[in-house]
Amino acid sequence: MISRRHMILGAGAAAAAGVALYGFSRGPSYDSVARSVWRVPAATDMPRLEYLVHHATLAANSHNTQPWLFSEADGQVTIRPDLGRATPVADADNHHLFASLGCACENLLLAAAAAGESAEAYFVDEGDGRIDIAFAAGGDRRDALFDAIVDRQCTRSVYDGRKVGTDDLARLEKAANRPGCTIVFIPDGPPTEKALELILAANGEQVANPDFASELLSWLRFSTAAAVEKRDGLYSGCSGNPALPTWLGRIMFGFAFTPQSENDKYARQIRSSSGLAVFVSEGDDKAHWVEAGRSYQRFALQATALGIRHAFVNQPLEVARYRPEFAELIGVAGKRPDLIVRYGYAPPMPRSLRRPVGDVII
Ligand SMILES: Cc1cc2nc3c(=O)[nH]c(=O)nc-3n(C[C@H](O)[C@H](O)[C@H](O)COP(=O)(O)O)c2cc1C
Repeated sequence: MISRRHMILGAGAAAAAGVALYGFSRGPSYDSVARSVWRVPAATDMPRLEYLVHHATLAANSHNTQPWLFSEADGQVTIRPDLGRATPVADADNHHLFASLGCACENLLLAAAAAGESAEAYFVDEGDGRIDIAFAAGGDRRDALFDAIVDRQCTRSVYDGRKVGTDDLARLEKAANRPGCTIVFIPDGPPTEKALELILAANGEQVANPDFASELLSWLRFSTAAAVEKRDGLYSGCSGNPALPTWLGRIMFGFAFTPQSENDKYARQIRSSSGLAVFVSEGDDKAHWVEAGRSYQRFALQATALGIRHAFVNQPLEVARYRPEFAELIGVAGKRPDLIVRYGYAPPMPRSLRRPVGDVII
């Protein structure tokens, strides 16, 4: 989120203070918490619901707010939105929030299958909306996508410029293919340049919007101590920025988070990627947003299994007035494209954290 160049400038001046503070920090280290989050438990290691929820919560989710609550009744598992964790500026109609529930749902279904159960999910449009998951006995169907759950991450770095081959693109398309949702790979050349133009235009508007900046700031975790305490939100290290004491990070954010620096960063990141892919569902309602999340999660897991990295660049879909032009660009005029990712090759970045499963089971 914050440009590395700008953060590093100030980080030097702050290093002495920061290092001194870290020297006295107590409690588990970031790495040890990250390892415990991204572990691979056996289905027999913990109660069934905890095993399923553990895998579900490792899914991608907008701003890492983890906007989900899980419960079990009559053999069914239900995923509900936690609207206290909504991001109303970036995600005014909770589109991303429901897509995040779709991501969690897909992981949960893969975990159930790996534990020998067949499971099906149904979106129920009552109240705030929920996903009910029903189970039946089924053979052990451990999928390669399941094995990728603990390795998937959104990699927000500059990639190495290599192109993903056509066979792997076909594998990604197949994995993402779900009823009611298609994936569009934006062709190289003018279409990708136009997409970049729209991403930067929308990004510039978001960064210049004080409400957007303040909402984002509330989910940024500048220090390892804050990241480990909250176990949610966007930790600086995951975006390639140095960890800083919270007070200093907030000051640096005020200086570094500008339309120019953020747009330069995104342009570099996108130009270093192999390409852009867009997830487009058939409808514009909660059930379809969930489907788009499921489709993305399958893409991300397949990409992980193939050693392909990815990160979101959703800006022209988040700023509503850019949606029609973006839809027209990718040949789906009249629809609302759901999610945009860049993909390519890069080394892994530090892992994000998740809250303990006990915090999200009700
Ligand atoms: C619906 C949705 C929208 C997202 N939008 C963005 C985005 O616009 N920019 C970004 O950098 N990451 C975005 N993310 C990625 C999340 O920030 C990321 O999943 C979260 O921080 C957890 O990190 P991890 O996926 O590496 O575990 C989005 C994720 C989801 C599911």
